[in-house]
Amino acid sequence: MVILTALPFQTQIPRHKMTESSRDILVTSALPYANGPLHLGHILEFIQTDIWVRFQKLQGNTCYYVCASDAHGTATMLKAEEQNLTPEKHVNNIKASQISSCDNFLIDFDNFYSTHSEENRHFSEEIYNRLNACGHIEKKTIKQLFDNEKGLFLADRFIKGYCPKCKAPDQYGDNCEACGATYTPADLIDPISALSGSTPIEKDSEHYFFKLSDFTEFLKEWTTDGHLQDPVSNKLQEWLDAGLQSWDISRDAPYFGFNIPGTEDKYFYVWLDAPIGYMASFKNLCDKEGIDFNAFWAKDSTAELYHFIGKDIINFHALFWPAMLSASEFRTPTGIFAHGFVTVNGQKMSKSRGTFINADDYLKHFDPEHLRYYYASKLTSQVDDIDLNFEDFLGKVNTDIVNKLVNIASRCAKFITKGNNGMLASELDNPSLFGEAKAQQSAITDCYENREYAKAIRLIMKLADDANKYIDEKAPWALAKDPEKSDEVVAICTTGLNLFRLLITYLKPVLPEMAKATESFFNAECDWHTLEPLLNRQINNFKPLAKRIEKKQIDALLAPPTAEEKPKNKKEKKKDKPAETEPSEITIDQFLAVDLRVAKIISAEAVEGADKLLALKLDVGQLGEKQVFSGIKSHYAPEALIGKHTVLVANLKPRKMKFGISEGMILAAGNKDIYLLSPDDGAKPGDKVS
Ligand code: MSP
Ligand code: ZN
Repeated sequence: MVILTALPFQTQIPRHKMTESSRDILVTSALPYANGPLHLGHILEFIQTDIWVRFQKLQGNTCYYVCASDAHGTATMLKAEEQNLTPEKHVNNIKASQISSCDNFLIDFDNFYSTHSEENRHFSEEIYNRLNACGHIEKKTIKQLFDNEKGLFLADRFIKGYCPKCKAPDQYGDNCEACGATYTPADLIDPISALSGSTPIEKDSEHYFFKLSDFTEFLKEWTTDGHLQDPVSNKLQEWLDAGLQSWDISRDAPYFGFNIPGTEDKYFYVWLDAPIGYMASFKNLCDKEGIDFNAFWAKDSTAELYHFIGKDIINFHALFWPAMLSASEFRTPTGIFAHGFVTVNGQKMSKSRGTFINADDYLKHFDPEHLRYYYASKLTSQVDDIDLNFEDFLGKVNTDIVNKLVNIASRCAKFITKGNNGMLASELDNPSLFGEAKAQQSAITDCYENREYAKAIRLIMKLADDANKYIDEKAPWALAKDPEKSDEVVAICTTGLNLFRLLITYLKPVLPEMAKATESFFNAECDWHTLEPLLNRQINNFKPLAKRIEKKQIDALLAPPTAEEKPKNKKEKKKDKPAETEPSEITIDQFLAVDLRVAKIISAEAVEGADKLLALKLDVGQLGEKQVFSGIKSHYAPEALIGKHTVLVANLKPRKMKFGISEGMILAAGNKDIYLLSPDDGAKPGDKVS
């Protein structure tokens, strides 16, 4: 991978001027936030983009691929604070880790930069000043929730409370993960600051807004002009029809970002300078390599510009960004390619379910090209989610890469390397089979160009099936027993090996390392434009190109942390104490995270099929009604409980049981006998217990 270093192209002529007929293309992946390591969702996007870029480069087009760490915002600031680092230092650490993970996944950036750069400051100010000069910026005073303890205005994601609709606890200020409702932080029941746990207050502040509605006509046209996928375009029409709101582009100090020109303590909102980071990263590349920046970004540019993004950030790229660019006299994107989200074994990636997989953890257990292949085999031009199912992953890698693809070469190689001193035959045994495989090139080319990788993989695997069938039928290993047939064996295996090489050439954007190994095996580049068979020439010894995946590798990746990863002193633990009674300290914050509430039992019933359980309905005041299953049947008759007040753990993650969902836990004392805790008279349902 080439990052921040000169490209291996020794010439004074800018690369994009070299071939007259070639396209000039600039490609980006969304800039990952600098607040954590990359996970397999990010990697999907990098792989999707990288395959496309490698394909364009193989076509002979001039194609640059730039990205950066998205450095700014409150989250970065707080992460840095936590570690006692300056935000700059923290961002540099994260950037280095993101570069290293991408490098290991063979993501071939031309530049990976940071949005906290002078180039980005320059363009952000320039774009803002142009918008301002044309009257597209307005100032308004707004009320916002403020954390008095921290001295910070709270972004929606730093406010938590109960969902106003379904009453689920612990929901963020913008939407509910339990029921999907969207709302504003002011609608939350019992909002608290996720930073300090304190109750936020409302405070006035002057903000700067970009008047998006000035661009309604422009956007109506732009969003229906072939730059977007159809469903994306359709969805945006709903927004446009509903009327565009002004966009708040400022944040108050303290904030890690760029100061807004002409202000003391206002900063650009991270999402203002983030897409401008695409330009800045490219400018940084241009300055290093003598590329003409304006040829790609000036209003009259004929170069192509594509942004690969996830479906969650469409508005920023397909509304705000083109409006900003057009208003500030830059070119707008040629295309915005949105992909869906990665789920793992059918579930949203989640830390608690163990389905949140960091890029580097994957790499400890598996080959990067296996994920590249797997994702490619599932990627289309659509916005659909993509499931990373590990059984399917194992099956696909072992079947397609090992049993089909590499098998072609491993069954043929030795008859050439050992059997014929490494010399390929001077003629193919079956030129028409090779011709058919070659004829698929244009269909496969179209698939890559249109981001229909899954279809490309299907076409290529069909050719692999044909090749294997041919080798099965010819059975060179049987013919080899007859010395008279040795020429025929060499011609058959020369056909097989050339088919293998052709398929690897088709897969080169997906499997760059395997292509490299294949090139050294054949002593020849796998070149998209010269598909002629290699004949009558020397090849090298064959080294195994892929290993099967074993089930135990999957188990190792998905297993909860092993003894090694846990604290090392396991053996030193006092053996006579059962683990669960071992007292371990918690912080006051951890304790305060438990939401204890007074609850009134409004109904209690035995549960059919469960000896110990009672199903309780609880009135929890402003939190509504909750259902709880409790193991107190042996000590309380259901009717004796009705009307009693007790204490409920109200923010316990709902648990699905055989009989229904239990939405909390009530507190009781005792081991053998059970005594329900209840508050003194006067406590009302919903009261906080602390
Ligand atoms: N920093 C912004 C992007 C600014 S671009 C000018 C951001 N960062 S992110 O780290 O949250 O996401 C980076 C990219 O990864 C986005 O395109 C996002 O959609 C994508 N993905 C994040 N999680 C994902 C999955 N689980 N699956 C697939 N892609 C996902 O948004
Ligand atoms: Zn809800």
